[in-house]
Amino acid sequence: MTTNDFIAIASRNDVKSGKTTWQTPSNIALVKYWGKRDPQLPENPSISFTLNNCHTNTSLSFVKKEEQDDAFCFKIIFEGEEKPSFQPKIQKFFERIVSYVPFIKDYNFVISSENSFPHSSGIASSASGMSAISMCLMQLEKQLNPTISEEYFYKKASFLARLGSGSACRSVKGELVVWGEHSEIEGSSDLFGVPFSSTVAPIFKNYQDTVLLVDKGEKQVSSTVGHDLMHGHPFAKNRFAQAYDNISKMKTILEKGAISEFVALVESEALTLHAMMMTSQPYFILMKPKTLEIIQEIWNYREENNSNICFTLDAGANVHVLYPISEKETVQEFIANELAGFCQNGHYIHDEVGFGAKEL
Ligand code: PMV
Repeated sequence: MTTNDFIAIASRNDVKSGKTTWQTPSNIALVKYWGKRDPQLPENPSISFTLNNCHTNTSLSFVKKEEQDDAFCFKIIFEGEEKPSFQPKIQKFFERIVSYVPFIKDYNFVISSENSFPHSSGIASSASGMSAISMCLMQLEKQLNPTISEEYFYKKASFLARLGSGSACRSVKGELVVWGEHSEIEGSSDLFGVPFSSTVAPIFKNYQDTVLLVDKGEKQVSSTVGHDLMHGHPFAKNRFAQAYDNISKMKTILEKGAISEFVALVESEALTLHAMMMTSQPYFILMKPKTLEIIQEIWNYREENNSNICFTLDAGANVHVLYPISEKETVQEFIANELAGFCQNGHYIHDEVGFGAKEL
């Protein structure tokens, strides 16, 4: 599919007003996306587990304008309070997507959102937030054009979400989602995420992810700035090639259930992401001393208990602890007894692999 396939056709129905509500999850990348080109296209393919408990609920209320104009008219309510500070981000998102969803100029919108996780937890809310608004907009497009297929509905939702925040396109559909063109992943595209369609070995079903909240502060470096620093980065070319190869490796690992290779690849990807940040100009470190202490504890535990526990990181100090469901009880005990002490106010969130967007 090309970008032109995502331009909405003329509306068949005259929809005066309505409301739609969607819940979409966060996701955690196993092979990371870091580096992009305009418009929000990835420099390398990535794959993520879709999460379940960390999610955003968004309602979109819409009333058709009495007089048509060219302005985007919307109000944002976040966790019950009006948030004019979120206005510029949504304005920019609407500007990016208007050629694909021109009907957004015809309505007055109220966008009301809430996250299941604390706002300043260091958990990126852009993936779940942007995918939730995209689902709502697609629901409106479906009311305007009920003939659109389910496949188109989800692909375009992911396409729109990508234009809001790259990794958001991996929060729409599927337990494992690939974003970025790759010769071995059927249907993969730089334009939207696709569910990983190979058979996944049982050990990778219902995978567990506990997010350890090490630093709940605002990120020192936004991901937009971080992605930008990959332009002219001395290791960029090799990194993009490595990530491409790692998708091939991950595909085989997931199909075969090769858990020790999974552990090694996931941890290497996390550290490589941070190595890219540490070798950018300007350079930066997003890990905190407690992040490293946790990593050491995870390695010790894995060694001593013959466990398959591993960690991954986002662009921040929090640690995602990944483990198979068969180790749920023992690992969660280890987290409560040993790792919670490294978390800010002892705070962590147990999550697991989910399936994607749900209409509420
Ligand atoms: O979607 P963005 O622009 O916030 O970028 C997110 C990038 C990482 O979370 C660091 C990696 C990934 O693939 O999700």
